[in-house]
Amino acid sequence: MNSLPRRRFLQQAATLGAACSADFKFARFSWAQTASSGANAATRVYLDSRRTLPPIDRNLFGSFLEHLGRAIYGGIYDPGSKLSDANGFRKDVLDEVKHLGVPIIRYPGGNFVSGYRWLDGVGPKKDRPRVLEKAWDSIETNQFGTNEFMAWCKAVGTAPLMGLNLGTGTPEQAAALVEYCNVEKGTHWSDLRREHGVAEPYHVQHWCLGNEMDGPWQIGHMSATEYGLKAADAARQMRYVDHSLKLIACGSSGPFMPTYLEWDREVLEHCYDYVDGLSLHRYFGNVRETNGDSTKYLAMNLSMERQIAETAAVCDYVQGRKRSAKKLWLSFDEWNVWYRANSGDAVDGKRQEAPHLLEEVYNLEDALLVGGLLNSLIRNSDRVKIACLAQLVNVIAPIMTNANGLLRQTILYPYSWALQFGRGAALKLLVESPEYEVSGMDHVPYVDISATYNAESKEISVFVLNRDLSKSREVELQWEVHAPSSVVNSQILTGDDLKAANSFEAPERVKPRPFDKPSTSGTQTRFEVPPRSYTVIQWSL
Ligand code: AHR
Repeated sequence: MNSLPRRRFLQQAATLGAACSADFKFARFSWAQTASSGANAATRVYLDSRRTLPPIDRNLFGSFLEHLGRAIYGGIYDPGSKLSDANGFRKDVLDEVKHLGVPIIRYPGGNFVSGYRWLDGVGPKKDRPRVLEKAWDSIETNQFGTNEFMAWCKAVGTAPLMGLNLGTGTPEQAAALVEYCNVEKGTHWSDLRREHGVAEPYHVQHWCLGNEMDGPWQIGHMSATEYGLKAADAARQMRYVDHSLKLIACGSSGPFMPTYLEWDREVLEHCYDYVDGLSLHRYFGNVRETNGDSTKYLAMNLSMERQIAETAAVCDYVQGRKRSAKKLWLSFDEWNVWYRANSGDAVDGKRQEAPHLLEEVYNLEDALLVGGLLNSLIRNSDRVKIACLAQLVNVIAPIMTNANGLLRQTILYPYSWALQFGRGAALKLLVESPEYEVSGMDHVPYVDISATYNAESKEISVFVLNRDLSKSREVELQWEVHAPSSVVNSQILTGDDLKAANSFEAPERVKPRPFDKPSTSGTQTRFEVPPRSYTVIQWSL
């Protein structure tokens, strides 16, 4: 099965008026966002370093690599390339990901995982089978598998978020993979790993129990009850091997699903006691959902916040029904913009090795929305503990490769800022911003803000999305406890053309530039953000 049926499924759902994102009514979920009087008034933000959420889990800024298209082969692994090391790892990509400091990377899928036999990808490379990969109709050579991924993670300095096959795979095979990865020695599967040349166990902590099992496009798709029971069984068997695991059950594939939330409830009725987190997925676009209206598109992150609130509510409902002391956290383990390379040749592997699939080209407005989505994740970091920008290399990705090097797509920049500056804890801001109206939505603030406070380094970072397409917006920060002493860093991503994108020929068409350091007078800092912009400013207190 390839992803064409998923496309068709989405279209049908929209036609039938199912809960697709276009019909999703927006509401204010940023807890303290209020309208300020006057359409041109300054956005006033009150910051108090005593009012924070719990510390942000670094895994909030994770990413994802699937055996899909050129993500692995030709992306991170390219043994024939002049740019690769002795392991076949692309050095330029490795350095870029290491430099970004991505904390956790989901692998090996995605839709791919639901038909993947992990045993095909371990042991001597010459003995590994070349198989027909059914999710994307590609050829999988299995030259890159679990041990290569673990070695790459170590080289990059990231942690694996391992996906398990709960489509064609069994709970027994899932537990065997845990044993292969995490048991030191003296058992069948741990000794097999040692035979494969890896003496030390990997101690993989985080595991996804399948992928999008609610979707009719998924290999092994099943009902919520069937999946809930299977996930519970897999979790039990995996914990018999290693009780310290953190396990994530498959939630709904998105609000467009007719079974949205009902799937989550039913699944959790069966496996709540055995798991730690529930997954959410979401891809945004500027056609079907918005009719190409960029003012609406730039507000889509508010819809992500609604999805988080609704999914958390279901988790808490089941918690209450079960009288459980345990509160589940959320794993938003696929999120991004994806709406161009999602049909026809872009999703059809044509039985090729490493075909060009899902090679979305990102423009400025996509990067601005990605900034907004990161703001939303930061504001919800008390509940969302893992989130993965889907994906990382060549496939709906911030990093693209060709034979001669890599390209930074526009969306890389807001992501890199979250990684660099989004440290410590999210501040509970009080924001008063002028708003605008968009059809089918509630009022949307022109200025969307999140902020983090790092108590160790005494630094505050503020991330500002100006959704106004034509006007600059004034921002007034009111420091309620400490006024900052100096600006450590300030950068902006903006431009005249929302549709401008980078390419190998023009790699720096859209890139950040320094933002004039705002000065602080007394307890107030004022600055102006230009239209169509995403800005980060970091102060030292
Ligand atoms: O990330 C691309 C695909 O989108 C993944 O394989 C799947 O989980 C989702 O539908």
